Amino acid sequence: MSNYDVIVVGEVNDAQAAAMRSGELGKCVARVSDLLEGQKIVPVVVIENESQALGLAKALIDGGINVIEITLRNDFGVKAIELIKREFPDMVVLAGTVNTAAQMVAVVRAGVDGIISPGITKNLVDTAKSQGIPYLPGVSSASEVMIAIEHGLSECKLFPATVVGGISALKAFNGPFANMRFCPTGGVSESNYRDFLALPNVMCVGGSWVAPSGLVREEKWDQITELCKAAVSSS
Ligand code: 3PG
Repeated sequence: MSNYDVIVVGEVNDAQAAAMRSGELGKCVARVSDLLEGQKIVPVVVIENESQALGLAKALIDGGINVIEITLRNDFGVKAIELIKREFPDMVVLAGTVNTAAQMVAVVRAGVDGIISPGITKNLVDTAKSQGIPYLPGVSSASEVMIAIEHGLSECKLFPATVVGGISALKAFNGPFANMRFCPTGGVSESNYRDFLALPNVMCVGGSWVAPSGLVREEKWDQITELCKAAVSSS
């Protein structure tokens, strides 16, 4: 079997079917940035129930943010993806904390638009290729960026961004890895996100500051909408 053979686990969705027809499925990992259409802020969230899922999605959209990274840190993550894609089909729903191929397959079945993981493994890259799903792996070192390049990737998440050098690391990476674009996540906040976004190799930032878990639990949707509006207006 070559690296480029098509392996689709579960039902084939429309995008996968189109990719199979064009012969593109399995050849490369589609880019997460192609989903974002100029959006610069990716809220990273934990959702615990249906009420939170639907309320939060609406609050983000009302605040001008049409993308969400739903982490698989609890059992409700996959269900939250399914619910939000059903009720808000135009929202770009990314699955975060995808650490295994089985999780990747599960969220693809749930209708997710793209995958984010904290690190990078060959198995996850191969699974993203076989599933025909945009994939943003995490990197925290030059060697991991080189692994991403070996797999033909041009976009990565820098994680945990502020722990592994933040702005300085991204500036340093822009020399040897000038074609790589990053989504720094982890420690990105209201006070530093503009500095990250000002870097030429940063395509977007991820963070929980626009939808903190405390406000999600208390269902303070107006406050989350205001945080989003404030972030979007100066992004
Ligand atoms: C996380 O680890 O939950 C994400 O990277 C978001 O991190 P943050 O809460 O520092 O934004």
